[in-house]
Amino acid sequence: MSKVLVTGGAGFLGAHLARELLERGHEVVVLDDLSGGLASQVPEGARFVRGSVVDDALVERLFAETRFEVVYHLAAYAAEGLSPFIRRFNYENNVVGSMTVLNACIRHEVRRFVFTSSIAVYGTGELPLRESATPRPEDPYGIAKYAVELDLAAATKQFGIEHTIFRPHNVYGELQSTRDRYRNVVGIFLNQVLKEQPLTVFGDGLQTRAFTYVRDLVPTIAASGFDEAARDRVFNIGGDVPTSVLALAQTLREVTGSRVPIHHLPARHEVVHAYADHTLAKERLGARLDATSLAEGLARTWAWARTLGPQETPPFSAIEIERGLPPSWLDPRSR
Ligand SMILES: NC(=O)c1ccc[n+]([C@@H]2O[C@H](COP(=O)([O-])OP(=O)(O)OC[C@H]3O[C@@H](n4cnc5c(N)ncnc54)[C@H](O)[C@@H]3O)[C@@H](O)[C@H]2O)c1
Repeated sequence: MSKVLVTGGAGFLGAHLARELLERGHEVVVLDDLSGGLASQVPEGARFVRGSVVDDALVERLFAETRFEVVYHLAAYAAEGLSPFIRRFNYENNVVGSMTVLNACIRHEVRRFVFTSSIAVYGTGELPLRESATPRPEDPYGIAKYAVELDLAAATKQFGIEHTIFRPHNVYGELQSTRDRYRNVVGIFLNQVLKEQPLTVFGDGLQTRAFTYVRDLVPTIAASGFDEAARDRVFNIGGDVPTSVLALAQTLREVTGSRVPIHHLPARHEVVHAYADHTLAKERLGARLDATSLAEGLARTWAWARTLGPQETPPFSAIEIERGLPPSWLDPRSR
């Protein structure tokens, strides 16, 4: 049994990961400021510390009292599309916060730092996106993730701390926020179905993403902290089957039995097609990333979302730039 920290463990991926680590017999501490997650999602058996990864004193205290062997750093503000409009907050939370955790890891001799980066680091790279490609992130979210990746490699070289980097994409499933208006198309659609509102699609809806059911991906991330084959490596992780946003909307209507129409919004600035090659994760880590079909995964997610009912989707409270913000994202209270 090892002592592990999961930052962001009250969020979607973090809560699943914390549960998986507990089931594997580890002692789990969760650090989360509840800016996106819910305390009720922290699995029973994990110790929950409420606070921010940007809070240097709190992070230092936490590491001084518990000697972690592995740190899974998932805490981030992950609304990629919103990141150009909250640049300062994005770098503070996602870069400075990550460095605060990494400093503590180095000071307290944590063995391995596992980091959830994103395929956002690739920008509009050649498809399928491969780990061997040189990342060229195109928005502040991707730039922040890549900055942390580069810093981790430097820290490994200088201080010997091990790292494992995952670049996931388009994960969905139970516990995914349906309260977020800026990200997670599956969560947004589910909430729209529950509110009996049209499913909103940016542009023609022919942009493609490869969706991954959360439980297909979490075991690989959990095991990686203890896997020599994952040491000091970067892995794409996620499903292989590209699906258009329109096809996703259609499948979701079938799964939920809903007849809500599809409503097209003006296209927004986004990567049109994004799918990645996962050979490395499959061959080195034995990842099984497409075990659950989209229809099956959506059915499970729908069964969970129904129990929650429709959710309010409050706007982000501190938009830094409004120019070019999609109209549907503007806070009506600021008009
Ligand atoms: N879900 C995806 O498809 C996906 C894809 C690529 C990368 N990721 C990455 O995986 C990680 C988890 O994403 P998720 O989808 O579970 O998002 P999420 O929003 O559900 O979880 C993030 C958690 O981090 C917490 N958090 C945010 N800022 C914090 C701070 N300063 N201090 C402490 N806690 C903080 C939030 O409260 C939330 O519980 C993120 O790093 C994200 O960038 C997710």
